[in-house]
Amino acid sequence: MKTHENIEKVLITKEEIAEKVKETAEKLSADYKDKNPLMICVLKGAAVFFADLTRAMDIDVETDFMAISSYGGGTKSSGQIRLIKDVSINLVGRDVVIVEDIVDSGNTLKNLKTLLDARGARSVAACCLLSKPSRRTCDVGVEYVCFEVPDEFVVGYGLDYAEKYRNLDSVCVLRKEAIKS
Ligand code: IMP
Ligand code: MG
Repeated sequence: MKTHENIEKVLITKEEIAEKVKETAEKLSADYKDKNPLMICVLKGAAVFFADLTRAMDIDVETDFMAISSYGGGTKSSGQIRLIKDVSINLVGRDVVIVEDIVDSGNTLKNLKTLLDARGARSVAACCLLSKPSRRTCDVGVEYVCFEVPDEFVVGYGLDYAEKYRNLDSVCVLRKEAIKS
């Protein structure tokens, strides 16, 4: 799917994404050489990014998946996370990289980092496709950020609104009229 009538504009093109994903994969490959990192995909939003990022890495990695709910169908974070699906690999002594679609308030990531730390990981870093720094309400470190975006609701390349638009190949701003408040 290239575009949709509810899209106001393309914010980041698929070419820009591909270039930055490659760059980030190279950084991760250098930083985690010989560490066999456990790359954890936060479903569902990070799935597309995760598939591209891990395939562009040229070191050994292991992968696992978590699903978390914080948003319901709306556009604001509820501030709490609910674990819907957990990882199956033991984290003790592992170098973990959480792969997220977007860090908004920072709540989801902060909770997730605390959770994985408590399970005995050797290190827990975060790699996100997008970050909205102007919306941050809590202090959380994001070690790898592909793009900073303004305070607008974005969809595509894995990100959804009410489960739609994940299959757009660019990151797009949704028309205000398409968002139910
Ligand atoms: P946070 O806990 O406020 O940082 O929210 C993080 C989660 O909210 C992300 O993983 C997304 O699932 C969702 N989210 C935040 N902003 C957007 C957006 O602009 N588009 C789509 N999902 C978003
Ligand atoms: Mg998410």
